[in-house]
Amino acid sequence: MAAHAHAILTAAEIVEVSQLLRGAGLVGEDTTFRRIAVAHPSDDTERLIEVWLYSSGAKRIDELIVSLTSGQVVSANAVFGLRPQIGFGEIEAAIKTVKANPEVAAAVAKRGVTDPGKLQVDPWPTGNMGLDHEEGRRVARCILFWRDEVADNGYAKPIDGLMVFVDLDLDEVYRIDDIGDWPIPAETNNYHTGTVPDRDGLRTIDITQPDGASFTVSDGNLITWQNWDVRALLDHTEGLVLQSLAWTDDDRRRPVMRRASMAEMVVPYGETRETQAFKNALDVGEIGLGRCVNSLVLGCDCLGDITYLDAAWAFQDGTPVQVSQAICIHEEDFGIAWKHTDQHNGGTAEVRRSRRLVISSIFTVGNYDYGIFWYLYLDGTIQMEVKLTGIVTTQGHRDGDDLTHTALVGPQVSAPIHQHLFCARFDMEIDGPDNTAYRVDVEADRPGPANPHHNAFRAVATKLETERQAIAKVDASKARTWRVVNEGSVDRLGHARGFKLLPADSATLFPSDASRIAGRAGFAKQNIWITPTDNDQRFPAGNHVTQSEPEHQGLPTWTNADRSITDTRITVWHVFGLTHSARPEDFPVMPTEYARCTWIPFGFFDRNPALDIPPSNHCH
Ligand code: CO
Repeated sequence: MAAHAHAILTAAEIVEVSQLLRGAGLVGEDTTFRRIAVAHPSDDTERLIEVWLYSSGAKRIDELIVSLTSGQVVSANAVFGLRPQIGFGEIEAAIKTVKANPEVAAAVAKRGVTDPGKLQVDPWPTGNMGLDHEEGRRVARCILFWRDEVADNGYAKPIDGLMVFVDLDLDEVYRIDDIGDWPIPAETNNYHTGTVPDRDGLRTIDITQPDGASFTVSDGNLITWQNWDVRALLDHTEGLVLQSLAWTDDDRRRPVMRRASMAEMVVPYGETRETQAFKNALDVGEIGLGRCVNSLVLGCDCLGDITYLDAAWAFQDGTPVQVSQAICIHEEDFGIAWKHTDQHNGGTAEVRRSRRLVISSIFTVGNYDYGIFWYLYLDGTIQMEVKLTGIVTTQGHRDGDDLTHTALVGPQVSAPIHQHLFCARFDMEIDGPDNTAYRVDVEADRPGPANPHHNAFRAVATKLETERQAIAKVDASKARTWRVVNEGSVDRLGHARGFKLLPADSATLFPSDASRIAGRAGFAKQNIWITPTDNDQRFPAGNHVTQSEPEHQGLPTWTNADRSITDTRITVWHVFGLTHSARPEDFPVMPTEYARCTWIPFGFFDRNPALDIPPSNHCH
């Protein structure tokens, strides 16, 4: 029997899909697998798997949906003219090819590196710079670092001035750009255990739940905690995904979100030096977060009473890679849920503890590490948090080099200014499929007879009728928020029941509109997009973003249709993140930074839904 439509993809299913497609004659000599994932939700109960195949000879991508319930390919779409996500096998091959290349060896020997075995080669998706030599090729730009010992921090020792271009289809170095010599920095800057003396005085923190955790996991990935239930998945492209999130009160299960995920991210760099200016990673679409997932370690990554879920992703030859402990589930105490000290009644206090259910995974993409943390709270709050850590990408620095677009993080080494802009995708279904969105700005009233004390201000809710009208930036000066409601579901006070998005107060994409990346990642030029939900519109920069041409796919194109978004299934896309002007403290490994957005119930409940939390039994 096939698994639940929204179960986590297993290694056995990857094998089954791969064999089914081979049996159907769809996998040729030069065909590789670029995505095997649970298909975005259909409303039926079939087990549908989405597969993207790439055939390098024909430069063709096949987008397939396979039913494991019927054993059939149920839809097929051939795509030409776009380039597929880079495969991990290709990345491994490119690293070997660069290390073995005699011209690379000669170029690094000029810089004093005589053992190419000690090179660290970072193959980057190249973006699309519109250069003649990229035409018709799938290109990785490789930049080089030096590791004297295998465990050394390569980012402390950039070998700057060299860019090695690899044609991924041919697996060959086809071009080397040598733009100058920079000294390899002298400092080692390692961060591993034993490289720095441990500090004293930190006593043990144990987190114990003597009665066990308060959530249950059943049917593989169905998580039930207090009033919440949700399924957690690992998607090849988006990483950790929440599916079918609902709240049950009085035995009535009330849907809130059908699917919530990190649908894309872009990391543009602001440095003008040739060895940096091409960097504008779209790590979700170009690399795939799911296959960058960490196997988490109890007591290190996660502390307390932890339940883990295992996952699997497909290597480019269609074989499964199993990851144990890929998704971490636990409860956290989160301070005070609510409190009041009644000074009219002898100072008696009522206080309740808050806690949250945490569903998280960690993804390593080259130098950076991203945690995706979903939090569900007892009062109906839903939060998405990205934790950013890892190592900043670096370049060499010579005395007198321009520091306008980069900052020294050590002697002879600098880290260019850059952004991490995430695009969260929320497929909404508050109390059912027919939802409507409002943008809410707070405005001061004009002076006049209706404002005799000049103090008046008000929240002005604008109903968003179409997708172009909905495009907007965050605006802290207007305390701007968004509200998604179901106008067919009204509370006892007459409010349409809904949730309010407290957006991250976040900059949008800084590269100018004339840049190539502004066209490829046009989604990141705004903070909010709202579209009618369409299962074929899931990735805001398009399905196949590698070397994509500017302005050819994704949210900016879709929304030209200016479709209606009232009383229908809608998707809210929120772009938020951080802009990193690097600090000395970000090196040699970056202290975790946080970016988050929050949904809070707004009229979804008749009153504070956390009134019924009992007092803590530790409360004396
Ligand atoms: Co950064």
